[in-house]
Amino acid sequence: MSEENHLPATALLGFGTMGHALATGLLAQGLATPETLRVGARRPDVARAHAEPLGLTAVHPEEAADHAQILVLAVKPRDVDGLLHRLQEAGALDHHPLILSIAAGVGTASLAERAPGCAIVRAMPNTPCAIGKGVTVICAGPGAEARHLDLARRIFGCMGSVMELDEKHMDTVTGLGGSGPAFIYLVLEAMAEGAVMRGMPRAVALELAARVALGASEMLLATGRHPASLRDDVTTPAGCTIAGLLALEDGRIRSVLARGVETAAKVAGELAS
Ligand SMILES: NC(=O)c1ccc[n+]([C@@H]2O[C@H](COP(=O)([O-])OP(=O)(O)OC[C@H]3O[C@@H](n4cnc5c(N)ncnc54)[C@H](OP(=O)(O)O)[C@@H]3O)[C@@H](O)[C@H]2O)c1
Repeated sequence: MSEENHLPATALLGFGTMGHALATGLLAQGLATPETLRVGARRPDVARAHAEPLGLTAVHPEEAADHAQILVLAVKPRDVDGLLHRLQEAGALDHHPLILSIAAGVGTASLAERAPGCAIVRAMPNTPCAIGKGVTVICAGPGAEARHLDLARRIFGCMGSVMELDEKHMDTVTGLGGSGPAFIYLVLEAMAEGAVMRGMPRAVALELAARVALGASEMLLATGRHPASLRDDVTTPAGCTIAGLLALEDGRIRSVLARGVETAAKVAGELAS
């Protein structure tokens, strides 16, 4: 990829599960190089073990942020405030970089308070970003212009799909998009167990369940049809599918899954406090 496609100098602050996934995606897609992307870690010596295999340098956050035009905050929500305070004290925000935060439950207003004069964009990716199959929802915060949102779209677009929503939905996005993979894994595990109970080898059952979920999701996206209508196609009168669906509804699967998302969204809103 040509140099003009590279992102401006970027600091990845926090190098855990998501930080590592972001770095891997940005490097793989040629949006960043080890020269343009630096890792800022609380414990650089520990982070180096994971950063160096990617060719990246891990330094203290102030050092990483100093000349970066984009700061990606990938620390836990409770650590965001302290990190921004530390950067501000060190003068590492004086050049007003774009702050791109993926921290769940941390609103753009509180980010702007800690980073005055910086444009703020909030984003919620999910773990399938690690293999380029994620979905990220972005929203504009104080000072964010179209060019800042474009940068966020480029960053997360190399790891899957990107959607844009108003900030009022971001905790709900966390409950559905951020936590969602965990819910789907639980459903896949449970569906596979039904087949294991019938004697199917576990590995085969899991692969079959995952491929079924993949196909059903692709079908919904490709046709734009409502899930109830697609479900009707599978549900022959007096057949086996309606028997299975009624058993699931007896277990209140619909409200259980809906409440799972609702509960995760509520807790997401409390994570930073
Ligand atoms: N995991 C997900 O599915 C997911 C999805 C969407 C969004 N998110 C958001 O992504 C963020 C990171 O989540 P994660 O799962 O990647 O967490 P994680 O694996 O715990 O990683 C957080 C990293 O931040 C580092 N850190 C803590 N304080 C720091 C500081 N002051 N300066 C620099 N680095 C610091 C930690 O280092 P130490 O080990 O040294 O403390 C750790 O490496 C969270 O805000 C979360 O809400 C996560």
